[in-house]
Amino acid sequence: MAKFIPVDPFDIVIFGGTGDLSRRKLLPALYHRWLDGQIPASSCVVGTARSEMTSDEYRAMAKEACKTASGDSWDAKEWVKFEKLIHYVSIDATAEDADWETLKSHLTEDSERPCVFYLATSPRLYVDICEALGSVGLSGGNTRVVLEKPIGTDLESARAINDGVGAVFAERQVFRIDHYLGKETVQNLMVLRFGNMLFEPLWSRNYIDHVQITVAENLGLEGRADYYDKSGALRDMVQNHLLQLLCLTAMEAPNHLDDDDVRTEKIKVLHALVPIKGDAAKRQTVRGQYKAGVQGDKPVKGYLDELSSEDESSTETFVAIKAQIDNWRWAGVPFYLRTGKRMAHRHSDIVINFKHVPHSLFGEGNDIANRLVIRLQPDEGMRLFVQIKEPGPGGLRVKSLPLNLSYAESFTVRYPDAYERLLMDVVRGNLSLFMRKDEVEAAWTWVDGLIEAWDASGEKPEAYAAGTDGPLAAAMMMDRDGRKWWEGS
Ligand code: BG6
Repeated sequence: MAKFIPVDPFDIVIFGGTGDLSRRKLLPALYHRWLDGQIPASSCVVGTARSEMTSDEYRAMAKEACKTASGDSWDAKEWVKFEKLIHYVSIDATAEDADWETLKSHLTEDSERPCVFYLATSPRLYVDICEALGSVGLSGGNTRVVLEKPIGTDLESARAINDGVGAVFAERQVFRIDHYLGKETVQNLMVLRFGNMLFEPLWSRNYIDHVQITVAENLGLEGRADYYDKSGALRDMVQNHLLQLLCLTAMEAPNHLDDDDVRTEKIKVLHALVPIKGDAAKRQTVRGQYKAGVQGDKPVKGYLDELSSEDESSTETFVAIKAQIDNWRWAGVPFYLRTGKRMAHRHSDIVINFKHVPHSLFGEGNDIANRLVIRLQPDEGMRLFVQIKEPGPGGLRVKSLPLNLSYAESFTVRYPDAYERLLMDVVRGNLSLFMRKDEVEAAWTWVDGLIEAWDASGEKPEAYAAGTDGPLAAAMMMDRDGRKWWEGS
């Protein structure tokens, strides 16, 4: 049975309270924390958006959303208690005559009490909303502001957001969410690395040949064409989620789990990433865009058909990158990053490929290197592939088999969604799983270099059929290095 320590009573205001993120993630996350007894009954949840709606109508919407997201854990009796916390205020936060007084009337006047402003809106509104909050006196005391990704679309726009928000809120009040950091398996990376004596001595260029980080999705655009077509896989996934996974895999051990210790170690990795510019982008990156194909046994549309726009689009829905970290620990060890939509199946893995033994005793074909596969989702767990002797007389044959640790078999507790953990961390004021301003900017600096090289090349993404492992060029990039992608089997 998992233990949940209740947080202090708090107020949370969700801007964009009727939007997709609120309905799919934020409201269900709060409801689940309520079910586990972590949220005190004197807390207050205020949804805000421009649409006119009564609090009762909002509660009805929230109920449907939480019911859909909860499945078997839905508890109608608990909902009746939880919905008493919920209110709705119609507000256009950027309008001169915005109704701040009604919003304030729901908040507790106590500068010690945590008050969270969650901006689940377009990033274009972040600065305006923060300035408005500042001007009506809602940025002091124990207030916090949560910013969803993407923080900008490049370094310049990210800086403008960071500076604008920073003019109102101090850095310790700003929580930049990357929901991958709230995933149980991602947090477990730190425990695996720094809670075991076994791995850390081997975790370097001395014993590791290369690392692969894959986040493969089988979904397509899911109605987000407007956002996605301006973004693409590099900005949508690599700049944040994949680089965060890379940082946790490659960073040095922090002195403590304090916010700044972990974040300081992560940023050192980002600073050590070798820029990929000019011709290097041709050799070290692959872009793809899915065309129509078959997923499972279902025909699916290509990206351009899903966009349903007349225009051609050269937005990448797949990207593979060979990254290098220039520091003492990792020099010469490639980190291959790969993410794509509409791929053969959904799997997110970090694969640590160890070097071959220096001298093989067992003959040709019997020297298979060790591999540690950390499965982030689905079927969370890890497998350490080791060599063993295949039983039987007549020669000595070696086989690579996994030592298998499945979370589902080891733990019977429900896996909380990443947002549940992150929202409670915001209330507690724990910043360690949130990105610092300089971290976001360092990630953009590296990504901007790549985008510049792609733009200068004028090349278009290579087509790949939906339901496959991505463009051929991605397999060829590995082939040139004498390696293969781990396809999660
Ligand atoms: C989001 C991206 O940040 O992460 C989406 O914007 C992507 O495009 C999603 O589908 C993947 O998250 P998860 O938790 O489903 O792996």
